[in-house]
Amino acid sequence: MSFLKIASAHKAYKTPEGGLIHALDDVSLDVRNNEFLTLLGPSGCGKTTLLKCIAGFEDIDSGEISFEEQSLKGVPAHRRPFNTVFQSYALFPHLSIANNVGYGLDVTGVAKGERNKRVEEALELVGLAGFGSREPKQLSGGQQQRVALARSLVLKPRVLLLDEPLSALDRKMRENMQIELKNLQHSVGITFVFVTHDQEEALAMSDRIAVVANGKVQQLAAPTEIYDEPANEFVANFVGTSNIFSGKVVAKDGALLTIETANQRQVLATSDRFGRGDHVELVLRPEHLKLAPSGNGIPESCIDGTVEASVFVGSDLHLHVDVGKGRTAIVHHRHNRGDDGERIEAGTSVKLYYSPNAAHLIKAIGR
Ligand SMILES: Nc1ncnc2c1ncn2[C@@H]1O[C@H](COP(=O)(O)OP(=O)(O)OP(=O)(O)O)[C@@H](O)[C@H]1O
Ligand SMILES: [Mg+2]
Repeated sequence: MSFLKIASAHKAYKTPEGGLIHALDDVSLDVRNNEFLTLLGPSGCGKTTLLKCIAGFEDIDSGEISFEEQSLKGVPAHRRPFNTVFQSYALFPHLSIANNVGYGLDVTGVAKGERNKRVEEALELVGLAGFGSREPKQLSGGQQQRVALARSLVLKPRVLLLDEPLSALDRKMRENMQIELKNLQHSVGITFVFVTHDQEEALAMSDRIAVVANGKVQQLAAPTEIYDEPANEFVANFVGTSNIFSGKVVAKDGALLTIETANQRQVLATSDRFGRGDHVELVLRPEHLKLAPSGNGIPESCIDGTVEASVFVGSDLHLHVDVGKGRTAIVHHRHNRGDDGERIEAGTSVKLYYSPNAAHLIKAIGR
């Protein structure tokens, strides 16, 4: 039985100028029971719109949203077994933490004993046991965010919709909350649909990620698959850093392909999905490009370039390498403690190589 299903959803907004914005443009998505699914995409791509349509705060123009095979058309938000945690979590400032968390239960008339027990449980879940009698202003930003979470969890929704709930927190707090939220999701067994435009956050937390751009789902897959096998150039560039070379397969030997690129001589890649004559985009992650040793022993598949800049970021040295035809490749070179002669000056000629297995190929669009 399908759990939460969005099928061919369309949603357009009218602009004041009389135009139309297609916030959702044929979105289909199956959310599985108990999973942590993230909607990842740039600002304005339709993430909040999709969440609002699932929650029932907005209607789709066409298509269908169903839960456990029942259409949600016409079902008002408060009748859906979902709850939403918004970015601006606005706690009631004059109510205690316990009363903030219990608010939804009071509204639905849950008996006092049961209500207090559930509030306690919810506060415990988010690591705030014993904070019930405080006021919101006596908590840190991260703690307040957890109260907002407890306020939703206490209602025991089947699906929790979270719209950028961590974006107001500083980096350290955010990283802690990412782990906590993920653990929490596992322990309560509630399905999470989580919205973010932060790719690291999405990779760290999700069972699956739906990458969204221009109102369309570009790829829906597990984080490692999104990173290792991006479906198209948008995903390759939005999730992590990619070096992309366009080319044509000129020879094939088993799974080993030789590709002629515009800015380079021939390079190699392995793939069983492409053959001679295919136009492809070769995607190489910065950590897969290595500096070839000078002199003899230069590996077969390498790319010539000239260093434009070298940037030390702590764990890595990032090299920006001009690889011809106006393109720059980014190389992440691991930094080891004490390596100080490593900073490579601008203007140095280098050869970059990679294992053909590390290259990912995408079909070139329009070819
Ligand atoms: N009520 C509305 N009226 C008109 N246009 C809207 C309305 N709500 C959203 N839009 C437009 O629809 C598109 C999608 O908006 P949405 O809020 O879903 O984006 P988002 O992915 O959540 O972006 P962000 O990361 O900035 O929150 C945008 O172009 C936005 O301007
Ligand atoms: Mg939004």
